[in-house]
Amino acid sequence: MLYYVLFIVLAYLLGSIPSGLIVGKLFYQTDIREHGSGNLGGTNTFRVLGKKAGMIVTIADVLKGTLSIIIPMLFSPIEVNLLIIGVFSVIGHMYPVFAQFKGGKAVATSGGLVLGLSPLLFFVILASFFMFLYITKYVSLSSIITSFIAVITALVMSRYDLLILTAVLLTFIIYRHIPNIKRILNKTEPKITWL
Ligand code: G3P
Repeated sequence: MLYYVLFIVLAYLLGSIPSGLIVGKLFYQTDIREHGSGNLGGTNTFRVLGKKAGMIVTIADVLKGTLSIIIPMLFSPIEVNLLIIGVFSVIGHMYPVFAQFKGGKAVATSGGLVLGLSPLLFFVILASFFMFLYITKYVSLSSIITSFIAVITALVMSRYDLLILTAVLLTFIIYRHIPNIKRILNKTEPKITWL
């Protein structure tokens, strides 16, 4: 029990690291929460600060999810459920204690968590994301559709642990994308122009 609490707190704190805020303030003297969609994630960093900053923030956000389970994998003296622990990195990313609980939309950190648990599922969702991004040009819509694809893929793989996890992540992602869904419906959601 003690180790669960320890690794859950660690995962939450790791997820809470506001990479978009750090990169923006440190290298660009810009608070990305005051620009674009106001979201503290990779997409808004791309939008506000450009490709280089966007890539750095996206990779950092992915790594938060992956590291949150690699740490207990390597250092836990007892067997712990990595899925339960990993979910807290996504919660930290969405509601970061280091940024007034206003964080990202769960996509990149969820991806990193999936990467640590099943590289196969990660590559399926990566391919799905870029395919739908190419078709729709909406990052938000591609993220939502890909989250559905992740659930279906976990089912096809008969990985019921991943099925539960991806269903939980899908719920987070839909909830955090409600403003984007509204913007898509009233045609004010920005499309990407580089793909
Ligand atoms: O990963 C977040 C993305 O799906 C949407 O971000 O900034 O366009 O609201 P944003």
